[in-house]
Parts: sequence; C-alpha cells; structure tokens
Amino acid sequence: MATGMVVGTQWGDEGKGKIVDWLAERADVVVRSQGGNNAGHTVVVDNKAFALRLLPSGILYDNKMNIIGTGVVIDPKVLLEEIAGIEAQGKSVKALQISDRAHVIMPYHIALDNAEEASKGDAKIGTTKNGIGPCYADKINRVGIRVCDLYDLDTFKEKLAYNVEFKNKILTKVYDAEGVNYDEILADYIKYAEALKPFVTDTNHTVLKAVQEDKKVLFEGAQATMLDLDHGTYPFVTSSHPVAGGASTGAGVGPGYLKNIFGVVKAYATRVGAGPFPTELTNEIGDTLREIGHEFGTVTGRPRRCGWLDLMVVKYAAGLNSLDYLAITRLDILDTFKELKICVGYTLNGKAYEGFPANLKDLEACEPVYETLPGWETDISGIRSYNELPENARKYVERIAEVTGVPLGIVSVGPNRSQTIELVDVF
Ligand code: GDP
Ligand code: IMO
Ligand code: MG
Repeated sequence: MATGMVVGTQWGDEGKGKIVDWLAERADVVVRSQGGNNAGHTVVVDNKAFALRLLPSGILYDNKMNIIGTGVVIDPKVLLEEIAGIEAQGKSVKALQISDRAHVIMPYHIALDNAEEASKGDAKIGTTKNGIGPCYADKINRVGIRVCDLYDLDTFKEKLAYNVEFKNKILTKVYDAEGVNYDEILADYIKYAEALKPFVTDTNHTVLKAVQEDKKVLFEGAQATMLDLDHGTYPFVTSSHPVAGGASTGAGVGPGYLKNIFGVVKAYATRVGAGPFPTELTNEIGDTLREIGHEFGTVTGRPRRCGWLDLMVVKYAAGLNSLDYLAITRLDILDTFKELKICVGYTLNGKAYEGFPANLKDLEACEPVYETLPGWETDISGIRSYNELPENARKYVERIAEVTGVPLGIVSVGPNRSQTIELVDVF
C-alpha cells in the first residue's frame, strides 16, 4: 500500500514540514487531517522559506493534490490569507481540496480562547489563541458549524444565531469580555464561503479513493504526540489527536490503510507554551540551543523552551504512533557541542519509571536518567551521505534508534531539501 505519514514525536516544531516536503516529491496526494492554524510548518526550497499553517506542505509542488481533511479546524479568513500569500510567492492552489465536513473557526472561538487563557492567570496553557480549543469543544458539544453549513444559508443563520447568543452570554457575563456581532460575522463568512467554494468537496471520498487506487497518499501531521489531547501532558495539550491514529478519523480512512509512519525527532527537545518538560535546560546550555537553533515560534514568535533530547518521550511516541521509521532533524544544530546528553529513562522516588506518568505532579517529580555522548564538533550541514557523517554523529542517532527500537529512516542536517540523508527507500 502506497501511503506514508509524518508525525511529531515531541512537543511540535520537530521539522515535520521539511520531512513532508521531502517525501511529498513522490506523493500524489498530501493530506492534513487534524489541527488548524496553530500549526506552523516552515519549508525551505532553494533557500526560500515558506511558512505554512493550514495548507498541506505538498502545496509547494505543482503537481500534487493537497487536502485539508475533515478533522482539521478551519479559520476561513486565515486560510484565504494563506492562499493569497502562497499565490503571491508563485505557487498554485488549483489542486487544493477542503473537506465539507471540517469545522469552522468563528470569531467567538478566538474571543473565548483569549478570555479563557486570561482568566486562568498563571495556570494558562499558553495556547496560540487561534480559537482551536473552543472550536473543537463546539464540535464535541455538537453545536459546531461545519464547512457544508456555510453553503446552506438557513442552517448557517440558525446555527450562527444560536452560537452568537450563547457565546456572547459567556463572553460578557462570565469573562467580562466583549461580545461578537452576528451581522458582521454573517456578512464576513458569506464572503469567505464564496471565495472558498471552488475548493470545497467530500475529501473523505477523495482520500479513500486515492488510497484504494494505490495512489501515493502522504498524511501530514501537525502538533505532536506530547500535545495529543488524550496522550500528551494534559491539560497542556492541544485539542486534537496528532498521534498517527488521528489521521484515520481525521482524513476518513480506516487504520489499516496507514503505512510507513515516520516519527519526526528533533535532535534535542523544545516546547512552546506551558506544561512539564523534564529535560528542560533553564541555563546557559538551553540559551545556546535557542540561539543556535533560532528557537522562536513560527506562529506566535514566542521563545521556545529548550532541553536535552528526551527518549522517554520518543519511546512513548514510538508505541502510540506505531512508528516505522525515525526522521531525525536539526542534527546540525548540535555541531558545536563538546558533549551531549540524552535522557534514556526516568526515576520516580528512586525507582525506574515504566510507561509514562499521567499525573503531572509525578511527571514533574521524575528525574531524567542521562547518558552522555561525545559531540562531533564538525559542521555537518554539507554532508549528503550517512557514512560521511562523523562517527560521533552516527553514534548519536544510532543510540536514538536503539533506545526507541525504531529504525532510522531520514537524518536531516539543514532546512533545505538538499540537506536530507535518506536511509530507507520506502513510500
Ligand atoms: P514543524 O512545525 O514540525 O513543521 O517544524 P517548524 O517548521 O515549526 O520548525 C522547524 C524549523 O527547523 C523550520 O524552520 C525548518 O525550516 C527547520 N529545519 C527542519 N529541518 C532542519 C534541519 O535538519 N536543520 C536545521 N538547521 N533546520 C531544520
Ligand atoms: P506544529 O504543527 C508547537 C501548543 C501551544 C500550546 C498548546 C495548545 O507547528 O508543530 P492550541 O493553540 O493548539 O490550543 O495550543 O499547544 N501548540 C504547538 N506547539 N507546535 C505546534 O504545531 C503547536 N500547535 C499547538 O503552544 O502550548
Ligand atoms: Mg511548527
């Protein structure tokens, strides 16, 4: 079967966009199946950077079908801006399809995201404030507005009126915030719907047909395992299922169709937003990683928290995603380090921890068990074959594969397409 998938194994921003772009060269179809414009996937082609949020990374090729699937939450204003931006950069969106079942982010979702975060004070999640959580909450609560509703004016007006009335009560009476305006939203969303109409279709059918016809379908994950609503560091998570299984429900294909699952592992660890991070380095080493790696959020510009690679996290991700291969990225960022640490286990109250703690107090009390490996202290960004990597760089990535039990698939040594070393010929 000709499917492939790219998922994040840590807290996001592992370089999924770059790996999708690399694999997409051979794909016929690229599909986003969850998340929304909380994602920021930077892809560099010929030294030119493209920042993608809702558009699948396959959009950078002229001949691929790109699908925004059912499980994605779509802010139509942001999507239209992104389409205009990518067209201005000379790319075409003619083969874009948007699911008629996807849920729509409305202005009251963004207002609620802001109000909820503000009300939480120090306990805030540090969301991207794009209305992601409130939109998924409405979907779960069965009061959401779907893309197909935008093209049925009576239904849309009815659902919008209900939501605006109810959300305005919450915004003004609970949060003491400003409400939203029904007429303005109606007028704006009618315009957005008109502009998006050429792209809207039953993408579940398109994806399933493509898979069954043995076309090469690549699923592009957004966010990452530790941000998964059920399996991440709840409540410091996003509101969707970034794990591999999420692509089955999110794109509308049975789990048996999901093959060649690549788990993207940044060679160290970062996290943007609040929540536990056992290997975080709040010292000079963390600052050095942030500076060398330019670790600032694509979406929010926030500095990313940095730390040593945590293989307890990647091992956990290996099982949750049934990873077939590892795609290790940003190895070049470690070029100047004399020595490197990797966390290979946790101890809690002096005992080795099995599995992954649910209770955040337990996770915070876990002590990482580190192994120290020698650095390679060489610029590897120009290396194009695995055997030419310095021995210590090979030992570093091979140790990751050994501890997690997942074979190496790709090693990335820079943001450009050419800076990719492929170890397997699959997908
Ligand atoms: P994503 O959200 O997982 O797609 O990751 P982001 O795009 O948010 O962040 C990853 C950043 O690292 C982007 O700026 C990429 O261009 C860049 N990148 C990807 N792979 C590599 C690599 O191997 N080396 C370096 N130096 N940068 C990389
Ligand atoms: P990509 O696809 C990194 C984080 C936010 C916050 C939490 C909840 O680029 O890897 P949300 O707005 O989703 O309700 O925020 O999740 N977060 C991400 N962190 N990369 C992402 O996407 C993220 N998407 C959400 O920072 O901590
Ligand atoms: Mg990102």
